[in-house]
This record gives sequence, structure tokens and C-alpha cells, in this order.
Amino acid sequence: MNSQLRTPVLEGTDLAPFGRLVEAPSDGLTLADVPVDDLLATTLSSKVLVLRGYGLLDVPDLEDYCRAAGELMRWEFGTILDLVVQDDPKNYLFDSGDVPFHWDGAWSERPPRYFLFQCVQGCAPGAGGETVFSDATRVYRDAPEDLRELWARTTVTYRTDRLAHYGGTMTHPVLATHPTTGETTIRYAEPLDPARYRNPLFLTVDGPSSEDAVRAMTELGERLHDPRYCYEHAWRTGDIVVAENHALLHGRNRFTGSTNRHMQRIQII
Ligand SMILES: [Fe+2]
Repeated sequence: MNSQLRTPVLEGTDLAPFGRLVEAPSDGLTLADVPVDDLLATTLSSKVLVLRGYGLLDVPDLEDYCRAAGELMRWEFGTILDLVVQDDPKNYLFDSGDVPFHWDGAWSERPPRYFLFQCVQGCAPGAGGETVFSDATRVYRDAPEDLRELWARTTVTYRTDRLAHYGGTMTHPVLATHPTTGETTIRYAEPLDPARYRNPLFLTVDGPSSEDAVRAMTELGERLHDPRYCYEHAWRTGDIVVAENHALLHGRNRFTGSTNRHMQRIQII
């Protein structure tokens, strides 16, 4: 049994429809004061953990803190991705539009179990840019049996040009088994229409008949976006958010106001 299933979880306030908010009990604490095993155990049970009032760590300290919990994903830019809106980006992650649902590390052999954001510069209220998390395990659990069977027979091939730190062609069944909890989860990345997104993502669906495939994918998209399954995080400067990658899909709402948000992301395998 994974040790995180036995570690006590951090006390806090439940967010809706899932997630937990933990506020620093006193001034002067930083992320380093939160035991990393407790942090991940809480994230495993709540799926999203928001820490507020804890000081952020500089890059070497953040790496050391997360490395104590597991191997870090390493990309050509290192372990920490600076998420900022760029003037003329090649990839949609760095423009001011929305980011459709996906899971992190889909293009890697070993996707991360967790990813952590530090919000260096937040958004003004109403400026958009919220990160949206969809509870894929619950979407699956609540779906009718015939739809679940349809998803179980569906495989998607994804293709995108490598203009950022990922790309190529990959094939994934819609359903997968959560490696820690054993639950059935959904692995799906929404298509990116070339008319709307830089670095588009093209999907080919295999398995069911074409009529059934349309139903499988239409229902999937609608259910993943159902507000009953989605937690939207509006970023404030200083927020630390940890997310459970295997149980969730995530994306971002488009910015409707200032785009000077700055976040740092690190991923733990
Ligand atoms: Fe992501």
C-alpha cells in the first residue's frame, strides 16, 4: 500500500465541489514548514490542495522540497516551468486564450503524480485565467454503464507539432487505472482547433463505430465540463496549489483582463 494512503491529511476547509484550502496558522511560515508527505497525502485525498499564507520558496529550495517526495520531471528548461503570457508565443500555453483540458506528462513515458504551482503574481478579481480542474474519476463513476463500456472500447491518437516542450504522436485509451488508488480514471486531451489555437492538437478516435464514437466523445466533453465535477481556482499572489495529476484533467480559462500573471510549475513523478 502506498504510504500516502496512510499519512494523515492536513486540516483545512473543503472547497466545492472538491479540493481543500489550508491557511497558514501563523505568520512567517513557508511551504518548507509543511511536511511534504502530509502535503501529498492531502492532495491524494482532496485531489487539489490550496495553501494560502505560506511563503513561496526560491527555485533551489522548491526543487529540494519536492525532490524529497519523488523524482522531478526534467524538461529542456529544467524542472520549473515559468507560466507567463508572452507577446508572440508559438504555443497556446503562453498566450492569453483558454487552455483546454489535458493531463500533464501525456507525451512522457512516466507522467507526474503531482504538480505544484507557486503563484508569484496573481490575477486581479475578474481578470480570468482561472485554472480549472475536472475530477475524471467522478465523471467516470457517475456515468451510465453503457457509456462507460463505450469509453472502455475507445482509444484516441493525438498528434501535434513539437513547438514547445512536448509533441509528436501518442495513443492512449480513454480509460486508465489510477496507479495509486486503483480507481478508473479518464485520460483525455481536448482537441485544439488550428483556427483558434497556436500549436493545434489533432485527434483520431478508434474503437466504436463512427456513430458510437461521436456519442462517446460528445458525452465525454460535456461531462468533464459539468460544473458538478469542476473546481476553478482564481489565483491570488502567494497561492500554492498542488494537484493530483492521475485523477484530474485540467485547463485554464482565458484571460479577460490583465495578463501579468506569473506562476511557477514543478512536477513530481
Ligand atoms: Fe498542464
